[in-house]
Amino acid sequence: MRLKNVKGASEKIESSKYIVKDYLNCKGKYKELFNNDNPIYIEIGMGKGTFIINNAISNPNINYIGIEKYDSVIVRAVEKLENEDIPNLRLIRFDATDIDKIFDKEIDLIYLNFSDPWPKERHANRRLASIRFLKRYEKIFKEKNRIIMKTDNRKLFEFSLISLVEFGYKINSISLNLHQDDVSNNIETEYEKKFSNLGYPIYFIDVEK
Ligand SMILES: C[S@@+](CC[C@H](N)C(=O)[O-])C[C@H]1O[C@@H](n2cnc3c(N)ncnc32)[C@H](O)[C@@H]1O
Repeated sequence: MRLKNVKGASEKIESSKYIVKDYLNCKGKYKELFNNDNPIYIEIGMGKGTFIINNAISNPNINYIGIEKYDSVIVRAVEKLENEDIPNLRLIRFDATDIDKIFDKEIDLIYLNFSDPWPKERHANRRLASIRFLKRYEKIFKEKNRIIMKTDNRKLFEFSLISLVEFGYKINSISLNLHQDDVSNNIETEYEKKFSNLGYPIYFIDVEK
């Protein structure tokens, strides 16, 4: 994603009711923050937020937290939310490399949508389904671990599939062309819309452990 400096981004982020500002102090306390016992689903690398916002609107009995590392990107989600009232949604501006510093055995599902592919081999451990990240996710899942991933990048998909299965995940469902196989109740991400419009197949996997 190309990054631009967005004027006033940090002020907008700071003043949004959706942004969790004291995230280090919220570790292990999301049940209290949402004030209910509902499952918590997170999206790592949520970009401009279309997917997580639409999920939160469609599923009020699930709590959603979007995580994005750049101000200039998360601010676009904050802008979309300016006139919305979605109690089951929060956003965190954070680099998920340290995800286990902000959650503690309270997450039910992780979405990895169109994650950065990091194509160079020497950067393989920056991929969000690398063993390095999977080990950190172990510390934040509540009971069952569940990861759902979508991507247009076949190499990233193959790498992630091998990594997940080697780490003990079992496949619930898989598609090498999601939009051809099943589009019912699929909520699209920004990148998904862009790449499927260009005719690229969307790879999908839902795994559990
Ligand atoms: C290619 S975009 C995809 C955005 C969105 N998920 C979609 O499908 O439209 C990947 C996003 O992940 C974010 N990202 C990458 N690595 C991250 C990390 N370690 N922690 C948090 N966000 C990350 C990037 O800043 C970028 O906004």
